[in-house]
Amino acid sequence: MATQMAREWVGIQQFPDATQNKLFELLGKLKQENVDSLTILVLGKSGMGKSSTINSVIGERVVSVSAFQSEGPRPVMVSRSRAGFTLNIIDTPGLVEGGYVNDRALHIIKSFLLNRTIDILLYVDRLDTYRVDTLDRQIIKAITDGFGKAIWNRAAVVLSHAQLSPPDGLSYEDFVAKRSEALLKVVRQGARIKKQDTLASSIPVVLVENTGRCTRSDEHEKILPDGVAWIPNLVKVITEVVLNGSKGILVDERLVEGPNPNERGKYLMPLIWAAQFLLWKQLRGSIKQDIAREDKPAWELRDKVVTPRKFS
Ligand SMILES: *[C@@H]1O[C@H](CO)[C@@H](O)[C@H](O)[C@H]1NC(C)=O
Ligand SMILES: *[C@@H]1O[C@H](CO)[C@@H](O)[C@H](O)[C@H]1NC(C)=O
Repeated sequence: MATQMAREWVGIQQFPDATQNKLFELLGKLKQENVDSLTILVLGKSGMGKSSTINSVIGERVVSVSAFQSEGPRPVMVSRSRAGFTLNIIDTPGLVEGGYVNDRALHIIKSFLLNRTIDILLYVDRLDTYRVDTLDRQIIKAITDGFGKAIWNRAAVVLSHAQLSPPDGLSYEDFVAKRSEALLKVVRQGARIKKQDTLASSIPVVLVENTGRCTRSDEHEKILPDGVAWIPNLVKVITEVVLNGSKGILVDERLVEGPNPNERGKYLMPLIWAAQFLLWKQLRGSIKQDIAREDKPAWELRDKVVTPRKFS
């Protein structure tokens, strides 16, 4: 992959002094550990706040919603450099289309990442949602199958829209704890992480608020109802995960094109071949059907509404 010169991270100057000081301290800590660049992969459904979280952290409107829509489901990488440190953040299209996990989108994301090492995955969802469903579990499973279970050693769950008043007289802390636990449970199920696995308890949850609703502290930092200045807190958690002893995820050709990385070295190949053969037979059948249906007008064939792709 061609390396371009990253632009100067000027957006950092937009932050209040207190935020800037914390960020420089964290970047200093990373450099002390010989980490002079970070590659952050941002995944999640559409409308969860992926792009706006990136804009908030960079301090510029770097990813615009409209630029995405004309391009189709392609990832976008934003790189910024400051004081010898480079930040690469990869924004991605939503992983769901028409109610299903879009495996093609995931493959496009993997191909885009070829020969890069993911330092951390930010899995973005919303705090102000009350339910998790099987689709969420399927997304986590697809990410796990696509990048390997070890990706969860290098992950944080990000919950957006965190400036909220909980319903039913719940305290903010209780509400956050409930929502976090529900989502982490789905992550554990989707990634098939066992309860006794240390991974199960160590995926951090970070709250963010990208809208203008965010309260400001006396030092003008954006703070949440729990009093935490969220931008430096997000970077702090990223730093902790990255320095916590696990390895980043290298996206090599095998990971992009090869079998499910969690099944490498197992004796499942005959099964996979059998499944692929069945799939191929099915596919051939449906191609024949398609050819037979080609003469009909498109509206007659449309059996379900395809929602337009939207990026958060
Ligand atoms: C990725 O790395 C492999 C092995 O180092 C190399 O053969 C291949 O050309 C690289 N691909 C790209 C697109 O850089
Ligand atoms: C770092 O690792 C320790 C031990 O595995 C774990 O308890 C802790 O929660 C981890 N911290 C983060 C931020 O992942």
